[in-house]
Amino acid sequence: MSLAMKLKCLSLLFVGIITAANGENCGGLVQGTNGSIESPGFPHGYPNYANCTWIIITGERNRIQLSFHTFALEEDFDILSVFDGQPLQGNLKMRLTGFQLPSSIVSTGSILSLWFTTDFAVSAQGFKAIYEVLPSHTCGSPGVIAKGILHGTRFNIGDKIRYSCLSGYILEGHATLTCIVTPGNGALWDFPAPFCRAEGECGGTLRGTSGAISSPLFPAEYINNADCSWTILAEPGDTIALVFTEFQLEEGYDFLEISGTEAPSIWQVQRQYFCTA
Ligand SMILES: *[C@@H]1O[C@H](CO)[C@@H](O)[C@H](O)[C@H]1NC(C)=O
Ligand SMILES: *[C@@H]1O[C@H](CO)[C@@H](O)[C@H](O)[C@H]1NC(C)=O
Repeated sequence: MSLAMKLKCLSLLFVGIITAANGENCGGLVQGTNGSIESPGFPHGYPNYANCTWIIITGERNRIQLSFHTFALEEDFDILSVFDGQPLQGNLKMRLTGFQLPSSIVSTGSILSLWFTTDFAVSAQGFKAIYEVLPSHTCGSPGVIAKGILHGTRFNIGDKIRYSCLSGYILEGHATLTCIVTPGNGALWDFPAPFCRAEGECGGTLRGTSGAISSPLFPAEYINNADCSWTILAEPGDTIALVFTEFQLEEGYDFLEISGTEAPSIWQVQRQYFCTA
């Protein structure tokens, strides 16, 4: 990130020129049973100051599956927000940024929205995603995961699939997923797809409305010389609350540091609660 910050400072001089690339049309209402959505200018890079909203609408009782084929956005500054429904704050499902291919996303209803915003400097290749309409009896493929293998080819209600990781990688999350009926009308995997992390590595980027972080090997003792960083991404204006359920470190030698990137960060510390706004 410090590199990106430096680039931004240098590019301040050229803001006047960059603004000219901003008039591009993007976003819109998307209908039809399947198709693709790309960032403007894909695959040659997206403009600065982009602000595009796509709303995908399908028939009642159907859901929409979005799978990414390419994903490259300037980390933390250029953002693709995915909403389960209309593009309203309360429907935010995921805030995507960086260079890792996201796993596929399925809406719970018949609308899925994307909102793409970019800042004033630094661009990247952008993204391309395929959307497909899912009838209500199928969960759709939960997608391939980096360094992982998906076992199973049937994704309808009652079907189970299993993930494993390549050797040298450890699976985090649930290995087996079951396609279950949801109280509304559809079908949904009972857990999100897991991910594979390299053995001996720790930390990572967390998105979504809630999640858990623990020291490596928890609840067993953590390793010596650990150096782990976690980044939690939320929508601007949102509050992130961190609640510790257990905390035990070697006093004076092992530390957990918490910091916020977006100024102004207001810190409230209440017994075991740490918050930033
Ligand atoms: C739409 O789906 C059908 C059936 O799965 C497939 O044959 C077709 O290639 C798809 N079209 C696009 C644009 O993805
Ligand atoms: C993005 O566009 C929407 C309407 O299309 C507008 O309401 C919003 O203010 C814009 N946001 C920015 C940061 O330009």
